Order: sequence, then structure tokens, then C-alpha cells
Amino acid sequence: MNDSFKQAAHRLLPLIESALEGYLPAGKASDRLTEAMRYSLLSPGKRIRPLLVLLSCEAAGGDAETAMPAACAVEMVHAFSLIHDDLPGMDNDDLRRGKPTNHKVYGEAEAILAGDALLAQSFTVLCEIEEPEKAMRCVRILAQATGMRGMCAGQSLDMRGASAQYSRAEIEALHRLKTGALIRASAILGALMGDAKPEREKALALYGERIGLLFQVTDDLLDGGDSARLGKTAGKDEAQHKQTFVQLLGTEECRRYASALTQEALETLDVFGTEADALRSLAIKIRDRDH
Ligand code: IPE
Ligand code: IPE
Ligand code: MG
Ligand code: MG
Ligand code: MG
Repeated sequence: MNDSFKQAAHRLLPLIESALEGYLPAGKASDRLTEAMRYSLLSPGKRIRPLLVLLSCEAAGGDAETAMPAACAVEMVHAFSLIHDDLPGMDNDDLRRGKPTNHKVYGEAEAILAGDALLAQSFTVLCEIEEPEKAMRCVRILAQATGMRGMCAGQSLDMRGASAQYSRAEIEALHRLKTGALIRASAILGALMGDAKPEREKALALYGERIGLLFQVTDDLLDGGDSARLGKTAGKDEAQHKQTFVQLLGTEECRRYASALTQEALETLDVFGTEADALRSLAIKIRDRDH
């Protein structure tokens, strides 16, 4: 089971990269907006969300190729969220995926527009799903996970972080929205595209919810690490007085929390056999990740 995610990623990552490229072809040499979009979308991310869409689809018994539009759409929303997260008005970051942030290269106005256009493109891509009813359901799932009750809501709470004194429950709610919502949506989209039976769909949604929270807990733990390995500036949360689990509970308790979330994520997969091994090994990888 341990290497299942590694093997699956090896098989699926080239397909994801070429699909992303295909959904965002280079424009004319003068097309600065497309260039700015491509700069962020095609830069070397871990592609956890699209992998999760495809692996959830496969665990449900579907063919990963059918879930590719949904996988790429989520990665586009994610890239948009990162471009905006790095803007001077938000986290004001210079480094992302080992390269200068989008606004450092293209300027703030173009970076804002590149984010906006990636968001719009994500829904254009979902319209490629052949069955109209499935496409509609995907649109709803992704829109809800992104907007006023999803990632954007979480970012809004995060931005108030420096002045707010959040309780543990409030920080958890923030994490669930800011990062958890898109990751949970990835698992649900995969289940939907793989025609998962209700019991399995429910299990995948719960799994996505647990690893979504886990992902931000480990992101906060890694913020204390090393910029070169992370490909982004370490130490930002402390410098900007962000409200994180690390700040509230300390590193040791945070690691215990991460282990408990991982265990819960694994338990949600008990209704599956070996077809969910890659998802099991993904949960462990997220817990133990170093970037
Ligand atoms: C970073 O996400 C931002 C968070 C939501 C925590 P990732 O760690 O998935 O970033 P990439 O896509 O690999 O660059
Ligand atoms: C960002 O959280 C979550 C997003 C919605 C992009 P962070 O601000 O902690 O992400 P990093 O650490 O900059 O990648
Ligand atoms: Mg942020
Ligand atoms: Mg940030
Ligand atoms: Mg962070």
C-alpha cells in the first residue's frame, strides 16, 4: 500500500500535465494575459488536487480520463487562489513554486486578471464534460467550494487573522474553508465522475474532508521549515501573525492532531478494498510531507 500513491502519481502526472497544457494553449506572443496564466498554472506544483480527483474516480470504479476535465478545473481554481494569495494586498509573497510570484513577473494588475481568467477558464473546462447533468453538478460542487462558503470565505477569515483571536474551533473552521473545501470537492468530483455508489461517495467526501484539513495543518507546520525546499517563503505565518494551529497548539500537539486526522481519513476508506490503496497512501504522504 505504501508505494501505491507514488506509482499512481507516476502514471497520472504526465496525463495531468499534458491536459493542463491542452486547456491553456499559448496565445500570440503579445498575449500577456495567457502568458501570465500559463506561468502559474504550468509551474511545478504537486498537483495533489487533480491527482485526488483522478484517484477518487478510479477508487469508485471509473476511468481516470473521464475525470480529467474536473481534475484540471480544480487545479485552475487552485492556481488562481495561489496567485491572489501572494498579492501584496494578501500575503505579499515573492516566491511560489520555486519561482518569483506572478505579480513580481507580470505586475499586480496582470496577476489579478490572470487569477480571474483562470477561475473563469475552470468553468469553461467543466462544460466539456459530455453528460450535461454531470457537468452541472460539477459546476455547482466547484463553485460552492470556491466561493462565499468555501475557499474565498476561508481566505477572508485568514486575512483577519492578525487582529482576531480565534478559538481552536474557529481556526478549524478557517482551515476547512480556506484549503479543506477545494480538497474535499476534489474527492467528491472524482466520486461523481466515477459513478460511485452512494455509500462510497459518502466515504470519499468524508475522506476528502479529513485530508483537506490535514493538508492545511501540515502546510502550517511546514511554514516553520526551509524556503528552498518549500519553493515558497518560510516563516510567513509567524511574521504576519497568522492564526494557525501551530501558533495555537505548538508543534508537538499539531503533529498529534495531524496523525489523528490521518487515522480518521484511513478509517473512512474501510468500505473500499485495494482499489483505494493509492488514496490510503496519499493520506500518509500528506501527513509526512516535507514540501
Ligand atoms: C499551497 O498548496 C496552498 C495551500 C492551500 C495550503 P499546495 O501545497 O498544494 O501548493 P502546490 O500546488 O504544490 O504549489
Ligand atoms: C493559502 O494558504 C490557501 C489558499 C487558498 C491559497 P497559505 O497562505 O497558508 O498558503 P501558502 O503557505 O502561501 O502556500
Ligand atoms: Mg494565505
Ligand atoms: Mg500564503
Ligand atoms: Mg501556508
